[in-house]
Amino acid sequence: MKTLLVGCGGISQTWLKAIAQIPEIELLGLVDLDEALAKQRAQQFELELVTGSSLFDMLHKLKPDLVFDCTIPQAHYDVSLAALKAGCHVFGEKPMADSLTEAQQMVKAAKEAGKVYAVMQNRRYDPNIRSLKAFLASGVLGDITTVHADFFVGARFGGFRDHMKHILVKDMAIHTFDAARFLIEKDPEAVYCHEWNPKGSWYDQDASAIAIFEMTDGVLFNYRGSWCAEGLRTTWESEWRIIGTKGSVSWNGAEGFKAELIEDNSGFLSTYKPLTVHSHKATDFGAGHLGALQSFTHAMLEGKEPETICTDNIKSLAMVLGAVESSEKGARVPIKLSF
Ligand SMILES: NC(=O)c1ccc[n+]([C@@H]2O[C@H](COP(=O)([O-])OP(=O)(O)OC[C@H]3O[C@@H](n4cnc5c(N)ncnc54)[C@H](O)[C@@H]3O)[C@@H](O)[C@H]2O)c1
Repeated sequence: MKTLLVGCGGISQTWLKAIAQIPEIELLGLVDLDEALAKQRAQQFELELVTGSSLFDMLHKLKPDLVFDCTIPQAHYDVSLAALKAGCHVFGEKPMADSLTEAQQMVKAAKEAGKVYAVMQNRRYDPNIRSLKAFLASGVLGDITTVHADFFVGARFGGFRDHMKHILVKDMAIHTFDAARFLIEKDPEAVYCHEWNPKGSWYDQDASAIAIFEMTDGVLFNYRGSWCAEGLRTTWESEWRIIGTKGSVSWNGAEGFKAELIEDNSGFLSTYKPLTVHSHKATDFGAGHLGALQSFTHAMLEGKEPETICTDNIKSLAMVLGAVESSEKGARVPIKLSF
């Protein structure tokens, strides 16, 4: 697939490292508003290709089949629409867009162009989350009723994150919300969210949040998170407790799982037997961005729908934007998924 990558900032390095391992992707060019940065990336990765500062010009000059969008969230709408209009498929960084209206227009544009637009959700390709998903899918815990995820990482990024509204929910929690959808295969129906900025926070606003999602089939997903919590750090994948009608499983976000199944529930307190969460190699792909890119490439070459196709992944964005709206209104907000 002849490919153009646009946006040569921080995350583009992770993409370029992964692309180097996928022979089916032929990178033709790099675009950034700051062309010097595009040239710098080409040099850093020893790539002999065309660089430019105008996506429009590069699309017409190179005629790629595929565009990788690694620009800032506010540019995703314009970049993907331009690429789709030029007859390219698009695989872009999260989040899809800044608003649901824009995201819906992107979905529509992909449909009208007859092209694929998919979203990077690298955390789905962590081998441990794949193991947990397989364990849940086995049905051993009965019906899943409740999902708790805790994310506590005191991270000092500097830059735009220090000042951005809804920073934790918009920039980080989208990964955890998407992971919840991925794990239990339920969609969001409503949310109540409270954001605040704890004393001592080095962010201007909204560094902490609690969000309670009502998911389909009566499942509740409860998220607690902070980017300014000092001590007892969780992993970036969050710490999870998932409760089913027959038992529970916890995941520390790394390789630590604990699971218990009811043995006898005839008394005041039930007794349980431990269960093992087996390491499950669900795909032949690597982890993180590499796995996501391999999975996307594989699906495209097989003519199949990529796992994080926009028509599905817009639901994760809807969770984020629903949480933001709820927090601003101080009220429970229904999440409508009529895309
Ligand atoms: N999946 C992940 O784990 C992960 C991690 C970090 C960042 N991200 C996402 O990746 C995206 C980029 O983040 P970053 O940290 O690399 O940002 P960045 O600011 O370091 O880089 C973005 C680059 O895009 C360029 N750009 C902006 N608009 C453009 C346009 N219209 N045309 C061409 N170039 C344009 C900028 O000049 C800049 O060099 C964001 O959507 C972010 O949320 C994802």
